[in-house]
Amino acid sequence: MGILQSSCRAKEEEDEIPIYPDFQNHYISWSPKLLKLSILIYKALKGILRKIGSIFSDAEPLLPVPNPASRGISTEPLLLQTPPPISDDEDLECDEENYLLGSAEEETVVVEIKTSFIQERWIKHYSSGHRILLVGEGNFSFSACLALAFHSAPNIIATSLDSRAFLEKHYDKALSNIEELRSRGSKVMHKINATTMANHQLLAHLKFDRIIFNFPYVGLKGFKNLPRQSQLACQQKLVRQFLENAREMIKENGEIHITHKTNGFHGEWRVVSLGRGCGLRLMEATKFNYLDYPGYNTKCGFGGNGDFNCNPSKTYKFQR
Ligand SMILES: C[S@@+](CC[C@H](N)C(=O)[O-])C[C@H]1O[C@@H](n2cnc3c(N)ncnc32)[C@H](O)[C@@H]1O
Repeated sequence: MGILQSSCRAKEEEDEIPIYPDFQNHYISWSPKLLKLSILIYKALKGILRKIGSIFSDAEPLLPVPNPASRGISTEPLLLQTPPPISDDEDLECDEENYLLGSAEEETVVVEIKTSFIQERWIKHYSSGHRILLVGEGNFSFSACLALAFHSAPNIIATSLDSRAFLEKHYDKALSNIEELRSRGSKVMHKINATTMANHQLLAHLKFDRIIFNFPYVGLKGFKNLPRQSQLACQQKLVRQFLENAREMIKENGEIHITHKTNGFHGEWRVVSLGRGCGLRLMEATKFNYLDYPGYNTKCGFGGNGDFNCNPSKTYKFQR
């Protein structure tokens, strides 16, 4: 009976929260919680102190800021931005979820600081801080020139409509330019059609600061035998469809650049009004000088290793 009574009491004690709990048991059951709470308070205080420190410390490098005023290859160090002030109402609550979030943010800051130590470099309109997509490349000398100017160029994706085999057969420097690009961290892709690229499985989800098509030209076999008006319609269709696709793939303030000859037949393409028809506005049409891009060879696109005369021509810059 005594045993029964004592086991009943033990059951009751288990179910009820004791009013005067035994101090030793209380200590044993609460100590891990106290420990956890102290750790959380410690982390919160550490986070607050770090943030206060960053407000008062000298401008700490964070994200790179592109320098739109720069022209030509720049060896100027990257302009750095001071960290944004921490707002008073910022949520510094320290529950476990926030703590986890906090550590992810810490990692992001470290990555950003590392990025800011990489020097930003410019060549003409292009910066190592831009995400750049090049389409319709000939022997990849233009993209290789950009990559060389940037030193390290993981920000470049350079593409051709032509296969690697075609390029190898027709352009003596294509493979070395491709090698140059790859060694600097750029991506090289072949058989990329500029008129459908917005649906390409690897490119579709990407957004770029600059999309570049130098001297777009439909160069099908026998094309020259078509009536002039049909040729013009084909060339305009290429430009229009490229612009429509590129429009989907630029960032909010991104730019689409078409470099195009301005004389004779080329002048009839009406590139600017094609852009307008695609909902793009012309920001600038600037004289193009291939000497600004050391090593650039202009290729016809349908074989033949010779360079074509690209004068006179302009770079048309479009924005949404
Ligand atoms: C006159 S070449 C210029 C080549 C190169 N951009 C340069 O500046 O040396 C025209 C290029 O447009 C490319 N092209 C034509 N139609 C294309 C398309 N639908 N998508 C991508 N490239 C295309 C051709 O393969 C060719 O390389």
